[in-house]
Amino acid sequence: MAKAHSFALVTGASEGIGRAFAQELPESTNLLLTGRNSERLGQLAEELQVGARIVEPFVADLKAAEDRQALINRAGELEVDLLINNAGLGQFGGVLDVDPQGEVDTVEVNCVAAVDLTVNLLPAMLERAAVRGERAGLINVSSTFAVQPVPYIATYAATKTFLLTWTEALAVELCRRPIDVLALCPGSTRTGMAARAGYDPQLPFRADPADVAKEGLHALGRETVHVCGGVSRAALTPYFAPRRLATRGLGLITGAANRMARRR
Ligand SMILES: NC(=O)c1ccc[n+]([C@@H]2O[C@H](COP(=O)([O-])OP(=O)(O)OC[C@H]3O[C@@H](n4cnc5c(N)ncnc54)[C@H](OP(=O)(O)O)[C@@H]3O)[C@@H](O)[C@H]2O)c1
Repeated sequence: MAKAHSFALVTGASEGIGRAFAQELPESTNLLLTGRNSERLGQLAEELQVGARIVEPFVADLKAAEDRQALINRAGELEVDLLINNAGLGQFGGVLDVDPQGEVDTVEVNCVAAVDLTVNLLPAMLERAAVRGERAGLINVSSTFAVQPVPYIATYAATKTFLLTWTEALAVELCRRPIDVLALCPGSTRTGMAARAGYDPQLPFRADPADVAKEGLHALGRETVHVCGGVSRAALTPYFAPRRLATRGLGLITGAANRMARRR
């Protein structure tokens, strides 16, 4: 079994799947838990604090560049070696009918924040992992909605497409470095997100957030893309199987072009 990570940063830890990630990580992993709701984060930190384990709640609004920078600084000080970009939101409804700022916020939190944290934390995470002979980890929480355009939740679905393809490409770029990279694609999951998005049909087959988190942690180091739930996995296999080959193949060509460009 792979060695547990020393320090995990979980975004969107105050609720839902992020909270479940925090609860499912082993006790030997210290936690930096972030979100905007300080009360919920504080309660979770208290619940998960055992023995000498460090569990630090960190209030940050991921829409705000200065909050992201403060979080990046703190994660660097704590030498985080597992980054879980989980925070996310979306709005149900026509693109021109929903709150315009909400659409911008969706892109900022789901995409910009994930990229900001990743590109600013991974270089030091990789360096430390190489020195210690260990492996760092990155989990980006995408969605089964990522594989196609989805009208009436178009912006949210497109952010999840971005996260998926970005993570797959990054995994190819980093395949020889000491890090495991995973794009996690949950289907409908029993959290408060759908209600917050403006439409909660209470589908009977929704997954339990604890199962989603468990599947994600188990898949890290074993897969690059993990679709949660057997039915969704089977349904999306035709999409992912050829895509994996195409991404690898394209990576060989663009990798060669990148090496040539750097030599000039
Ligand atoms: N639930 C589903 O059916 C489902 C399906 C597929 C994928 N997903 C993905 O799974 C991830 C977690 O979703 P969930 O269902 O657990 O959602 P959730 O219960 O609504 O939780 C979302 C989390 O994101 C945080 N967040 C939202 N806006 C933020 C901001 N501006 N700054 C900082 N944190 C912010 C929230 O914390 P605060 O409110 O404290 O800020 C909360 O902890 C998301 O990326 C979502 O797209 C969910």
